[in-house]
Amino acid sequence: MNDHVRGDVAVIGLGAMGTALGQTLLSAGTRPVVWNRTPGRADGLVEAGARAATEVADAVSSAGLVLICVSDYDAVRSVLAPLEDRLAGRDIVNLTSGSSADARSLAAWVEERGARYLDGAILAVPAEIGGADTAILFSGSPEAYEAHRSTLETLAGRAAHLGTDPGLAAVHDAASLAIMWSVLNGFLHGAAVLKRAGVKAVDFLPIARGGITTTAGWLDAYAAQIDAGDHPGDDSTMATHVAAMGHLLEETVGAGVDTSVPAGFKALGDRAIEAGLADRGYTALVDLLLTETA
Ligand SMILES: NC(=O)c1ccc[n+]([C@@H]2O[C@H](COP(=O)([O-])OP(=O)(O)OC[C@H]3O[C@@H](n4cnc5c(N)ncnc54)[C@H](OP(=O)(O)O)[C@@H]3O)[C@@H](O)[C@H]2O)c1
Repeated sequence: MNDHVRGDVAVIGLGAMGTALGQTLLSAGTRPVVWNRTPGRADGLVEAGARAATEVADAVSSAGLVLICVSDYDAVRSVLAPLEDRLAGRDIVNLTSGSSADARSLAAWVEERGARYLDGAILAVPAEIGGADTAILFSGSPEAYEAHRSTLETLAGRAAHLGTDPGLAAVHDAASLAIMWSVLNGFLHGAAVLKRAGVKAVDFLPIARGGITTTAGWLDAYAAQIDAGDHPGDDSTMATHVAAMGHLLEETVGAGVDTSVPAGFKALGDRAIEAGLADRGYTALVDLLLTETA
């Protein structure tokens, strides 16, 4: 692509997240052109100063930067397919959640039509858009990222470009979700066991927060072990971890609480013991996880 179009910032899709993106642009002094499939959802943004496009083609035609945030990739494709002759020279930033395969496939399609593509994974809820600590991960065209860096940093103070592979943002998003649900399920399980003992969740908070902080403190060393493929177990062996998982399971059964969360931990731990990892460190589990997906 030789000629990059300079023009409006378009926001396509004005659900909860697209509306927050539009509001944040307006607050930062950018007047976006906005479009939503169902009319009426642009009204609030228009009252605040945005320009509404009646047709999505009009929004895209005037834009150098097109932000798309709709439900899923089928929706993205249904929006972009009729516009394929109008995409050349534009920068398409897709903030719709999906898989890395979705992102790579859409990037190829967009680039074949002479546009640059950036995939974005939003690690935030709408109310957090525009925050200094808000993260949006981008991958794909580095040229598009640099061209719009200030606008993208307006949307998220911790915007980051991870690499040219358009799938990288989605893979990092998935990895972050694994952490989020692991922590939340652990908290909810702990709260359920404690509730049976008459303890309120609010009284669990200091210990829960402390546990999360302590665990986070282990990650630097554990990441180095994973990258080195060396799992010395000098702080605690797999056998010690799996024994403690047994205690958690026993306490859970005794409390009459659903065992899904601790049974999942224990099943993985038992497989590690069966695989001969009893004297290895906890990070040795990563090799087990990798063999399972091969
Ligand atoms: N909300 C969050 O906390 C959050 C956080 C991170 C990432 N995300 C991601 O952001 C994306 C949007 O989420 P949201 O919360 O804004 O969802 P939402 O409030 O349900 O809005 C969905 C949007 O997609 C549009 N849409 C759906 N199908 C369409 C189609 N076939 N053609 C054109 N437009 C279509 C809807 O238009 P209509 O009004 O016409 O139905 C609406 O504007 C999702 O991929 C979501 O995973 C959301």
